[in-house]
Amino acid sequence: MMNAANPPSEPRVQLPAQRLIEIQRRLLAWFAEQGRDLPWRHTRDPYHILVSEIMLQQTQVDRVRPKYAAFLAQFPSLATLAAASPGDVIRAWSGLGYNRRALNLQRTAQAVLSEHGGRFPDTPERLRELPGIGPYTAGAVACFAFERDVAFMDTNIRRVLQRLFVGPETEPASERSLLAFAEAAVPAGNGWSWNQAIMELGALVCTAARPRCQLCPLRSECRAYATWSAADAAVFGEGSIYTQPPKVMRKVAERQASFTATPRYFRGRAVEALRRLPPGAWLTLDELGPRVKAGWTAAELPWLLNLLEGLANDALVVLDRETQQARLP
Ligand code: ADE
Ligand code: SF4
Repeated sequence: MMNAANPPSEPRVQLPAQRLIEIQRRLLAWFAEQGRDLPWRHTRDPYHILVSEIMLQQTQVDRVRPKYAAFLAQFPSLATLAAASPGDVIRAWSGLGYNRRALNLQRTAQAVLSEHGGRFPDTPERLRELPGIGPYTAGAVACFAFERDVAFMDTNIRRVLQRLFVGPETEPASERSLLAFAEAAVPAGNGWSWNQAIMELGALVCTAARPRCQLCPLRSECRAYATWSAADAAVFGEGSIYTQPPKVMRKVAERQASFTATPRYFRGRAVEALRRLPPGAWLTLDELGPRVKAGWTAAELPWLLNLLEGLANDALVVLDRETQQARLP
């Protein structure tokens, strides 16, 4: 039998625990120095955190900053948001896209008031029970408002973990194993900084198309970087200084071009047209049509009606079928 007290006779590959400690140390130090000064990083108010996280799920940081401030100025508390007219909430969401999220946010606020006396639950499990809160948001609020050491996933976190612990996206790991890495990686007592840091790295350095590996604090620990630099050395010879990973193909331009023909695009246009009216004002479908679709003709009335039925179903518009008019709720 082996004697557990004896040191192993062979040098061993670096322990995962040591590698992990090194990764944590480097990333946290990088974040302390390079992390952006963002308004939602100065608060632990769960309502403020929730607003920021819902906005950040769909919109870039620089666009969210002014919207976040304006939204909280208009709805300074959970109670003011819960009591607002849905139309005002949709109007305040202008420029943020995905209007349904504005209403979901209001429903969440109403549920926290009515079911929890205005106090947010502080665990991911109980946050998940609220309407409008998915696994990402539940984790983010538990972590960023209540400083819980929890793991959660968004596209930035997923990409960083994949590259760091698994390799280039051409060898994708399952969602389950990435979540297992995420959970193993959260440093005890430092979950808030850790999760902010990993998102920040994904936003600033480990970007989708052109990761800036030369600036990355995790380069020496990164699986994807090792793969890319080995491939580079095979082409340019050992000792060549590897500077750029191969461009990761993401057909962003193509996706944006085709977006202008999707139902979601036209839904957004319809809400935007109604948002420009004074509160409570109606538009007839004949007036709305040309504002939704270039070259609209009365022959497309059934199409428009169908679009508005969908929006009315989601409580984003009020549709009067008799008079063929629509307005914000
Ligand atoms: N995206 C989502 N949450 C974020 C945060 N807390 N900081 C920066 N970007 C984010
Ligand atoms: Fe991402 Fe490159 Fe850093 Fe690896 S070394 S985490 S691929 S930026």
